[in-house]
Amino acid sequence: MEIMKKAFYLETFGCQMNVVDSERIVALLEQIGYSQVDAADKADLLLLNTCSIRDKAERKVYGHLGRFKPLKDQRPELIIGVGGCVAQQEGERMLDTVPYLDLVFGTHNVHRLPELVTQAEKHRSRGCATEFLGREERLGNFPQRSQLDSVTRFVTVMQGCDNFCSYCIVPYVRGREISRPSSEILAEIEALVAQGVREVTLLGQNVNSYGLKEDEISFAQLLKKMNDVEGLERIRFMTSHPKDMTDELIDCFGNLDKLCKQIHLPLQSGSDRVLKLMNRGYTAADYLQKVERLKAVCPEIRLSTDIIVGFPGETEADFLDTLEMVKTVKYADAFTFLFSSRTGTAASKLKDDQSSVQKQERFERLCALQNQNSEAVWQADQGKVLPVLVEGESKQGDGQIFGRTTWNRIVNFEGDKDLIGKTVSVKIAKVFRNSNLGELV
Ligand code: SAH
Ligand code: SF4
Ligand code: F3S
Repeated sequence: MEIMKKAFYLETFGCQMNVVDSERIVALLEQIGYSQVDAADKADLLLLNTCSIRDKAERKVYGHLGRFKPLKDQRPELIIGVGGCVAQQEGERMLDTVPYLDLVFGTHNVHRLPELVTQAEKHRSRGCATEFLGREERLGNFPQRSQLDSVTRFVTVMQGCDNFCSYCIVPYVRGREISRPSSEILAEIEALVAQGVREVTLLGQNVNSYGLKEDEISFAQLLKKMNDVEGLERIRFMTSHPKDMTDELIDCFGNLDKLCKQIHLPLQSGSDRVLKLMNRGYTAADYLQKVERLKAVCPEIRLSTDIIVGFPGETEADFLDTLEMVKTVKYADAFTFLFSSRTGTAASKLKDDQSSVQKQERFERLCALQNQNSEAVWQADQGKVLPVLVEGESKQGDGQIFGRTTWNRIVNFEGDKDLIGKTVSVKIAKVFRNSNLGELV
């Protein structure tokens, strides 16, 4: 007789850190007899892996939990759990405010999920695990993940953050920065390549400070070793902090053939006054100097960035400095955010006298400028023949396949599924807002 498998439903919010943690959640739950389903009403266990970077992200969690409530009313045996950054921040309080919640697990406690689920199944007891782990325990706890049939994967090189940018909650919800031994990272990459992975994105809140706290090789040296891994075709990394961007790392964009010609380099603001209040550790001139060096060693490089509008006390002059930087750098993409005050951060204590109307107006001016820039950068590719690493069947669902250019831009085109995992030449026929349409050459 076949044993009925238990089913779980998992939704993931936030950044790539949570994506990687979710892969681990999947692996751990499979070990205790659960399989993943794509609809909440078919599951015995409902999980949210949450993000608290901005107030809106946090509110989303409570909205989703609200939608789970009727399911729990119908089936009291249903288990509901919350993990990730909101869980880390709120802990036991979440169990108090959400009476139908069964378990809460923090960012350092993903490995305890099976134990919490088993307890909830057996004793109907509610559990919470949010203590930060010590160094040794964390080093032993870097993701051991599900096997995926995938051409591209993330590999975590470091966890946590020590930068304490004044607006940011991450250091509080992810703990102190810790780098993983390079030998382990390279072994994981080799194993992934043996499974068919062709592109690896190294992940960390601030990859440029990789290894600085430990007796390790530099991040640039790690990239060099990776470049020698046979069978690996492409390397990317994120996120880079401008203050820790060394010349050695910049030179990699000129020297390493597998390193994609793309970098995400968060600016946050173009005003030195605001950058200082943000505790970013660089000036606009420092930032521009790094960008110029990047463009000098790799003229084809394209940059993307993050910008916060409406930081407490931002003046029109500060904002114009940001617009000026955006004009000068000509980012291919920019992720723009309205400042959101996070409890416990230094910026939450600053006086904020701008109206939301004023903030919104600036936000729209910035978006309009960036849209023009993006359009100009991407339209220039029309008619070009570019190498594309094929990742899979296109989400368009019309028999097309898709891949990405070195600039991380999606290209959909007609082609055989046998091409998945291969790099092919594709002529860019049409440029859309978020992707390109191509023709196999
Ligand atoms: N570690 C990365 C990314 C952190 S979060 C880095 O250092 O760049 C991603 C982006 O969210 C940040 O770059 C920032 O632009 C934005 N962000 C973080 N906290 C925010 C807040 N309180 N309000 C608005 N945007 C915020
Ligand atoms: Fe947050 Fe700054 Fe750390 Fe990035 S570097 S995670 S913005 S504190
Ligand atoms: Fe969000 Fe946590 Fe990432 S707050 S952005 S999921 S580290």
